[in-house]
Amino acid sequence: MFLSRHLTETTSRRYGRFVPRVHVAGTDECTDLAVRVVLEALEGPHPLIGLATGRSTALLHERLVSSHRSGQTDLGRATWVMLDEYLDIPQSDPRSFRNQLCRDFDGIFDAGLTRLIGPDLGLRDPSAICADFRSATAGVAPHVQLLGIGRNGHVGFNEPGSEADSRTRAVTLSATTLADLDPTVWPGPDRPTRAVTRGVADIAEARTIVLLAFGTAKAEAVASALTGPVTTACPASLLRDHPDLRVFVDEAAASLL
Ligand code: GLP
Repeated sequence: MFLSRHLTETTSRRYGRFVPRVHVAGTDECTDLAVRVVLEALEGPHPLIGLATGRSTALLHERLVSSHRSGQTDLGRATWVMLDEYLDIPQSDPRSFRNQLCRDFDGIFDAGLTRLIGPDLGLRDPSAICADFRSATAGVAPHVQLLGIGRNGHVGFNEPGSEADSRTRAVTLSATTLADLDPTVWPGPDRPTRAVTRGVADIAEARTIVLLAFGTAKAEAVASALTGPVTTACPASLLRDHPDLRVFVDEAAASLL
């Protein structure tokens, strides 16, 4: 692992193996660095960007939208791919990841300016939703896959136990993930217990993976992912040998490295 607190030009290959590049800085700087990776990908032909949903990537979305509005980039050039989605909620539910992303991107997806590929909750039946998402994303390897990480080391909704060769499928949310659902957003008994997620193998096919993690609550997961054993018990660790894994963390999330 390359760990830097200053921007340095490093190669991610060491002793013939690929190692993750870890940058420790404030949320602002980490987000800006991640934005830069996405902006670079947006310059290329037919950019394909994998989106995550959650607190860790919300500011990044905001900054991408600002860059778009100021004419610095054109988000409409890209195809955007969702990583995961809750199951058993209606398409109209404002808490769905698709609706959250549409809000984050401030109408850019709604306006049809750009494509957002994701699970179609309108199909209702979980197996139909998964089959449709699987075929919509077959062969879709994003130039950049954005990721957060769960406290239990999940990526997307690849919960502990997920295999390195896992693909898009329906999953049951773990107790930790359920405990982390925001009670102000999910106050009632209608909380989702299942989700559809792209698999670890799908994520690993991205050319570049950008993982963002902030706060002490993520410290253990970050340390397990980067320095613990490579194990299905911590799905993020299965990405450690990826040729271009870039991790942006604040001091709190990096505190156990
Ligand atoms: C959630 C989602 C992920 C997200 C991660 C971290 O459960 N399935 O897509 O990246 O956990 O979320 P947050 O960034 O809000 O901590």
